[in-house]
Amino acid sequence: MTLPRVPEPVLRDLERIALGVASEAALFVAEHGSVQVSATKSTPTDVVTETDRRSQELIEQRLRAARPADAFYAEEDGAVSGTSGITWVVDPIDGTVNFVYDIPAYAVSVAAVVGNPRVPGQWAPVAGAVVNPVSGERFWARSGGGAWRQRGRLPATRLQASGRAELPLALIGTGFGYSAAVRSWQARVLAPVLPRVRDIRRVGSAALDLCHVADGSLDGFYERGLNPWDLAAGWVIVTEAGGGICGLQQDHPSAEMTIAAGAVLPALRELLVTIVAKVGPVDCTDFPPAEPGA
Ligand code: IPD
Ligand code: CA
Repeated sequence: MTLPRVPEPVLRDLERIALGVASEAALFVAEHGSVQVSATKSTPTDVVTETDRRSQELIEQRLRAARPADAFYAEEDGAVSGTSGITWVVDPIDGTVNFVYDIPAYAVSVAAVVGNPRVPGQWAPVAGAVVNPVSGERFWARSGGGAWRQRGRLPATRLQASGRAELPLALIGTGFGYSAAVRSWQARVLAPVLPRVRDIRRVGSAALDLCHVADGSLDGFYERGLNPWDLAAGWVIVTEAGGGICGLQQDHPSAEMTIAAGAVLPALRELLVTIVAKVGPVDCTDFPPAEPGA
């Protein structure tokens, strides 16, 4: 896959816009956060709040004003086509369940990507930002510019993914989807991972998990079922921090599997390939998909 090259001045602009817009939306979420669930999506536990929607509206307005020719693709039913070759891939609140439960591990994720984000392997992020509204922690990156984290008013620091290559000593993050059949499959994959790593973390925001791989507070991360908006910004932040991201067989992440890590990536990938081959496909017999509207 050959994706278009974006000139450096444009990359700088995209990075600046991603960080500015994600920071503004995070402030909005922090100040106006209503945690009332307003609808459910794929399953009764896949929730959306009024704040998710309003955060997305704000982000879309700001991006349209800054770069009217760009396309827009976002979690809460948001898609607008464009002509510039850049698409903004947005998660207005990643970690909505944490948001609803007031667990301070959720984030606004804004990424500029090239290619078609609906087709795995046909797109890649070129700039992105992830901002936690509660901690105010901000992560950002652009292709070739390194990955950065800023905590409050402290100076920004350049990120470096973990150099730990030994799987038994690696702290690994993971996450679970909303469908019961997929969760059952994820549990069967997790069981043989658990005794082979230092420990497992399930933070509840894939965007933050990827940032934690970038800053080395996780040695690695994997999850089945991620959407482009969950991982677009985190992807460029991980790779700019010297980490890697891939699928099981493919060199790009997809809904089938996202694996991201520092030096432990080859060992983690090999383990997951072996386990997934043994576990087989998702089995819907015990857990048929939820009825629409259930
Ligand atoms: C979810 C979070 C969670 C992951 C799920 C995602 P949402 O996004 O990233 O950590 O395990 O797969 O769907 O629904 O909170 O935006
Ligand atoms: Ca999400």
